[in-house]
Amino acid sequence: MARIVSGTEGIRETVAALRRGEVVGLPTETVYGLAADIRNESALKKIFEVKGRPTSHPLIVHIADPEQLRELAINVSAACEALIRLCWPGPLTVIVTASPRVSRAITGGRDSVAVRLPAHPLAQTVIRDLGSPVAAPSANRFGHVSPTTAQHVVEDLGNDIGLVLDGGACDVGVESTIVDCTLTSPEILRHGAITPEEIRQILGPQGPEVALTTSGPSRAPGMMERHYAPRAKLVLHENDEPLPSDGAPIIRCDSNLVEVARGLYDQLRHLDARHIPVAHVVLPAPSGLGYAIRDRLTKAAAGL
Ligand code: TXA
Ligand code: MG
Repeated sequence: MARIVSGTEGIRETVAALRRGEVVGLPTETVYGLAADIRNESALKKIFEVKGRPTSHPLIVHIADPEQLRELAINVSAACEALIRLCWPGPLTVIVTASPRVSRAITGGRDSVAVRLPAHPLAQTVIRDLGSPVAAPSANRFGHVSPTTAQHVVEDLGNDIGLVLDGGACDVGVESTIVDCTLTSPEILRHGAITPEEIRQILGPQGPEVALTTSGPSRAPGMMERHYAPRAKLVLHENDEPLPSDGAPIIRCDSNLVEVARGLYDQLRHLDARHIPVAHVVLPAPSGLGYAIRDRLTKAAAGL
């Protein structure tokens, strides 16, 4: 069973485990990641084995200093530079053209790579002390709800990893916004806490158009319709709809959106822990952080 470690000693153990080629649970401000040293091909392979994730689904590389992007990417666009200047450290992942040095095990064979600089101080310290970026998908079993506490990671992957570094409950609670910056007009591939409004504002009226491709078939591999899924059946409602009174619990996600995002996956896990078969969910309006919350809930409810 994985050990939960913390503090200075926990950081030391985490870095030592990464150096030995192990995969570890690592806190970020969005969700917990399952991290491996990007220099170690067999450690990268372990990520896919532990998650049960197809090797064609690419991973996000996590860095601790914006300069590390230069070693991973070529031809970084002006729009991309503007986004990372204002959003890093933070919940923004950029897709950029990969340098030939980036392992194709990370990119799933593509010539683009996803990179982000997380805001969590423990993630930054581990990456700095290791002296290398880490590749990390969310630390959940493939298709399951992402973990937002060290305990969640142990519940999902505890039998298959040695340790989880405890960084407390994640501040954001939903995965990073992904923006494809390899195109002339950047495209949001996944909604997150950096909102479309903020991205448009950063790029300015003179900047390129920003496309949203998060409804309909996604171009981000691995983002199938039913994802982030609990076992409970979720029935979604807009916030001006009358709610049925059938005794099923009602989860309101239409106000205090920062709090809603922070607690969203814990709520979904609780439904399953209490063996609740059906719950009604009131969606937030589609703006700001509401996009990300709607997206995750729609995926969690799909296909049932
Ligand atoms: O907040 C987050 O981003 C978290 C924390 C741990 O940092 N990580 C995360 O990773 O959500 P993951 O693997 O669950 O989701 C990464 C997504 C993949 O589903 C994939 O579609 C997309 O990033 N992605 C990665 N590389 C890509 C690429 N080269 N082109 C298009 N999409 C890519
Ligand atoms: Mg994931």
